[in-house]
Amino acid sequence: MKREKLTRRQAIARTSAGVLGTFLGLSFKPFSINSSIQVRKLAINGGEKVHPGSWPQWPVWDTSAENRLLEMFRSGRWWRGNGEHVEEFEKKYAELMGAKRCLATASGTTALITALQVMGVDAGDEVLVSPYTFIASYNVIFAHKALPVFVDSDPETFLLNPSKIEERITENTTAILPVHIYGLPVDMDRVNEIAKRHNLKVVEDACQAWLAEYKGKKVGTLGDLGCFSFQNSKHLAAGEGGAILGNDDDIMDMCHAYHNCGRPYGNMKRVPGNPHNGMNYRMQQSQAIILMYQMKRIERDNDIRYENAMYLDSKLKEIPGIIPYKLANGATRAVYHLYPFRYIKEEFNNVPREKFIQALNAEGIPCSRGYGKQNKDGLIEEVLTSKGYRRIYSEARLKRWREENELPGNDQLTEQSVTFSQSMLLGSRSDMDDIVKAITKIYENRNSLA
Ligand SMILES: Cc1ncc(COP(=O)(O)O)c(C=O)c1O
Repeated sequence: MKREKLTRRQAIARTSAGVLGTFLGLSFKPFSINSSIQVRKLAINGGEKVHPGSWPQWPVWDTSAENRLLEMFRSGRWWRGNGEHVEEFEKKYAELMGAKRCLATASGTTALITALQVMGVDAGDEVLVSPYTFIASYNVIFAHKALPVFVDSDPETFLLNPSKIEERITENTTAILPVHIYGLPVDMDRVNEIAKRHNLKVVEDACQAWLAEYKGKKVGTLGDLGCFSFQNSKHLAAGEGGAILGNDDDIMDMCHAYHNCGRPYGNMKRVPGNPHNGMNYRMQQSQAIILMYQMKRIERDNDIRYENAMYLDSKLKEIPGIIPYKLANGATRAVYHLYPFRYIKEEFNNVPREKFIQALNAEGIPCSRGYGKQNKDGLIEEVLTSKGYRRIYSEARLKRWREENELPGNDQLTEQSVTFSQSMLLGSRSDMDDIVKAITKIYENRNSLA
């Protein structure tokens, strides 16, 4: 994102114009600084908060779900084996997302484990994955005794950089697991084209991307399989829960069988005994009922988040040192599980990001730093040095894995990212203005933080 460089004279002229605007009662404009903000002490230094009030809470309970829940609990039909709610949810979610089939699961993690299993990922295989993500995206690869190979991030998009995929492919690579992190769609045409050329499967981690769109289609319906999470913080929340979307009946039947202790499903051959490997990753009836009621609000909520995100984009990009995410090529709609931007400390008189975050929190604007360097997560070495991994992977392969696990784009991103939670984006326009005002106030008073 291009940033205008101002001379000192231009900056003073703009500031005076902002002050004048304030006196004339014009609306607040970032970087045309409101005089009261400029002189006010930062809250972290004992001044008054920009946003003294509260933010929308999440999740939001729908009391109209209660009768149906009670009825189900009283019937004793609590699991999917003897009830209709999970299947009903699957039909509704597939319809909402534009997929042929949906399989509900206990969680996003179990959805991903099932999808990788059915895609044939096995011990000794390598799976390419985004490093700027939640722990589960690579833990599920370890669950199959496969090797997660991180593809460097593009700091501008917060997503895996498609032009870095091919250099990571080896003869053992079997799948790509792109993550639509924060609900920002990955450039799926690029991913699918590379996958096709190298005969790889694509499992989308859409665990944060319900209704996000790429070229007008919902993400999670663009690869071989797409996985979602309905954990408590998610836009569609049931405490825990997950789903797999897919368009191939045979593959979806196999997913169903695997998540249900290996019991054959649909067109699968039924033979005596238990011929298929499988786990119990089933969703409960109560989760499905809650989700069907939560589904009634997701489109409206997403619209509110979207409007507010567009507004923040337009204002925050005007503040020196604040760079909102950039949408990847082909992304037509993001859904903002978190709203991310990058903080360039050099523009803030070298105030460290942690200090900036503390100052913003003190102004009544909750924020956090986003993901850390997950490719260096301690658990990875624990797994790679385990007995099983040393048996499966040669010393030379693990040595090369460690050498290649240097990701400059991701390092930069993890050092600069700052995020707001999705529930903040359900706030009012005046809440969004407070976010902009607070960051501008910190910018104007950056010298007092040094
Ligand atoms: C990107 C991503 N992948 C996978 C998961 C795993 O989902 P769950 O917590 O439902 O198991 C999450 C959950 O937060 C996630 O954010």
